[in-house]
Amino acid sequence: MSYPFSHYEESANYITSRLRGFVPEIAMVLGSGLGYLGDTVEDPIAIPYGDIPHFQVSTAPGHAGRLVCGTLGGKKVAVMQGRMHHYEGYSFEDVSYAIRVLKLVGCTTLLVTNAAGCVNRDWAAGDFMLLTDHIKIFLDSPLRGENLPQFGTRFPDMSKVYTPALQDIARESAKELGLTLREGVYCYFPGPQFETPAEVRAARILGADAVGMSTVPEAIVAVHAGMNVLGFSLLSNMGAGILDQPLSSEEVNEMAESRKEPFAKLILSCLEKL
Ligand code: HPA
Repeated sequence: MSYPFSHYEESANYITSRLRGFVPEIAMVLGSGLGYLGDTVEDPIAIPYGDIPHFQVSTAPGHAGRLVCGTLGGKKVAVMQGRMHHYEGYSFEDVSYAIRVLKLVGCTTLLVTNAAGCVNRDWAAGDFMLLTDHIKIFLDSPLRGENLPQFGTRFPDMSKVYTPALQDIARESAKELGLTLREGVYCYFPGPQFETPAEVRAARILGADAVGMSTVPEAIVAVHAGMNVLGFSLLSNMGAGILDQPLSSEEVNEMAESRKEPFAKLILSCLEKL
């Protein structure tokens, strides 16, 4: 179903009323391992998703469901602690709903992170990847249905989803921190099952460096609404079939946990420069 613009406005007006004059500039959607950054926001105003009219509540394990607004890395942020995934049963419109709301609240930039499977055999699990582009060939667009011109045009350009100037900032931050930052293409898979080895090989042939179950719907909606986008993957595991071992969410979470400190440093350094 398509939501009317009035729903987005009602959600945004509620958040704005709770923020008492604070206007966030950067919307952050944090994937596995990094949700805790929301707890480090200074002068936080935390709003449970359930309080916000028309908001969906995320159910994935390890994903709290609240919006934390305040200062992080010297920037005014709105951190989504917990995101919605299509595999939870949400439509793509639901998955990306909050992005449009945060645009109305005042955010001009989306910073998004995820855990992803690595399909580039020259890289290793534990590496960080800057998203330079994405592939979304599965299922509908989050923009399917009536266009809402208040956000953007019917046929939005997607030639630079991940804002080049923000990619430069990420490269600079990684260099300063002495971190290796891979760069590549994230291919969206709907999940919740991990890919088959044949799907991983197919993704590689199509030009992907990583595969994952999030981020892309949010990025598409952000670009449609004229926001800048910066995206990172933690390559938590090699894609299915690359190593002769089964994949599990435990492996993903363990890697996310063990790499969260440098990942957080990278994100905070980028924030400072945004
Ligand atoms: N595939 C899809 N999503 C993922 C993976 C993967 O291998 N690892 C973490 N998220």
